[in-house]
Amino acid sequence: MCGIVAYLGSREAYPVLIKGLHRLEYRGYDSAGIALLNGSLSVYKKKGKVSELEKEVAENKNLHATIGVAHTRWATHGEPNTINAHPHKSNNSKLAVIHNGIIENYDVLKKALIERGYHFNSDTDTEVLINLIEDIQKNEEVSLEESVRIALNQVTGAYAIVIISEDHPDMLIAARKGSPMVIGIGDGEFFVASDATPIVEYTKSVIYLAEEDMVTMERGKAIRLKTIKNKEKTPYIEKLEMDLSELEKGGFDHFMLKEIYEQPRSIKDTMRGRLHADKGIVTLGGIADYEQKLLNARKIIIVACGTSWHAGLVGEYLLEDLARIPVEVEYASEFRYRNPIISEEDVVIAISQSGETADTLAAISLAKEKGATILGICNVVGSSIARATDAGSYTHAGPEIGVASTKAFTSQVTLLTLIALRLAQLKGTITKSKMVQLLNEMETIPEKVEKTLKSAALIKEIAKEFKDVRNFLYLGRGYNFPVALEGALKLKEISYIHAEGYPAAEMKHGPIALIDKNMPVVFIAPNKGIYDKVVSNIQEVKARNGKVIAIVTEGDETVKGMVDFVIEIPETEELFTPLLATIPLQKLAYHIAVMRGCHVDQPRNLAKSVTVE
Ligand code: G6P
Repeated sequence: MCGIVAYLGSREAYPVLIKGLHRLEYRGYDSAGIALLNGSLSVYKKKGKVSELEKEVAENKNLHATIGVAHTRWATHGEPNTINAHPHKSNNSKLAVIHNGIIENYDVLKKALIERGYHFNSDTDTEVLINLIEDIQKNEEVSLEESVRIALNQVTGAYAIVIISEDHPDMLIAARKGSPMVIGIGDGEFFVASDATPIVEYTKSVIYLAEEDMVTMERGKAIRLKTIKNKEKTPYIEKLEMDLSELEKGGFDHFMLKEIYEQPRSIKDTMRGRLHADKGIVTLGGIADYEQKLLNARKIIIVACGTSWHAGLVGEYLLEDLARIPVEVEYASEFRYRNPIISEEDVVIAISQSGETADTLAAISLAKEKGATILGICNVVGSSIARATDAGSYTHAGPEIGVASTKAFTSQVTLLTLIALRLAQLKGTITKSKMVQLLNEMETIPEKVEKTLKSAALIKEIAKEFKDVRNFLYLGRGYNFPVALEGALKLKEISYIHAEGYPAAEMKHGPIALIDKNMPVVFIAPNKGIYDKVVSNIQEVKARNGKVIAIVTEGDETVKGMVDFVIEIPETEELFTPLLATIPLQKLAYHIAVMRGCHVDQPRNLAKSVTVE
């Protein structure tokens, strides 16, 4: 996490950097800072969001510079305050660095530097790195570029860094290991950022740095790329497919709301060119060469974190139900440390919106070591996970800016549905006529999502009723058990109300003790699967005076007669109900959070992309 952005060229750097920080704010927003170089290095830092930094800097009339670096922070070492904000300068004040990641051996390095007379102003690992570079430059009498390279060989951990130096007013040095970094190449100008969003309006030519890559950008010269082990590389310039309009709010109050309303389109984009209802087939170009591997897999292991893990759980139901292949779904963070039983006969599917989640990347490395085939389901094109996997399919949901994931989730579920249907077809676990029927139904899902989105007034009314409660319970069964987990996660992430998701039948093994007249319980109860059992669970809650909000299929009078609020979703096949039932849960969380005055797009303590353990 942390967002970094840097500029070198002929434009004014400050507006480019501030705009870039706003775009990257989803990555962390507890403090921000900027360094501009115009003769000398001017550093401005401020605790809080990027807008706080802007207010602080607004007083300063002398912001002229054509080279600079900027950072928005998500604290790892040292509390979120102005002193710990980046950029950090070295002791001689000539070097400054912005850093995303963690230097794990900072303590040892710091002690050694203190012994050599260095002092530290902040509690950060980053300040250690910049002083290490200064120390090497002084003692080894090598170029700045070489000092950076030597220093990076001494640190362990993760980093994406940009270095700026008073003695080199026309140069930026950047490097990455474990944290993402993109370089934009314009006409006589260079951009550096954690992702392409700060770059897209200036240039579409980008270089995605690989692990341990290091670049030197100099005014009027071609970019130099090498590894930190000093191996020269030829830069591979790619064309960005992102569009600027995708990064703006388009009339919505928040990115999250915009992204919720984008779902009819994003789901369609996930299906585009893959679902052929007319021919009764699904094609998935990205994993076509691995279909046999999947069909013969001893088991499929899905690894992911957060919302992507919930999508993985829906995937388990889909793959086992339709294709009859055993599936395990693992938190990437647990999988990586628990000596899992895994071999060449297994296929691992890593799911990640950002494609940068550190634990998911580590799980992939472990599975690779054990010889498994690794496939990826990512949203961000060219991301680290997309590149670390053997093959994969993109969700094509478009950039997701709101920290709480919405459209990425429904696109992940859509893609997993397509994969399960494709494998079922190849394996013959589904009849041709059933396949045609399901694909025809799947084609109508975007319209049905559109229809589901229309229940705004009712959801606002429900939000008003429950916005001040302290706890919420979400219950569902089968395909909609993961939806209950996701609904609860959305609410806690953005409204800070404690919420738990449970399989409805498990309620009586614990959570039922919580139920009284103050406890709202959300049931996901479409008229499919073991609907009757869910109805019994609803009765159990009502018998204890709990308040029930039920998501039901249109026209369901049984549940309507029992509960306090009913939200209808259109009739569909059971396997598609997660795609519809998720929508009102996202909206409920959104409206409650807005009514409670919470910062919906940037909830406290969270970050969109967790690139540290
Ligand atoms: C963070 C985000 C979550 C997300 C999770 C996994 O915790 O706040 O919204 O679900 O990371 O992210 P990924 O990019 O791997 O899907």
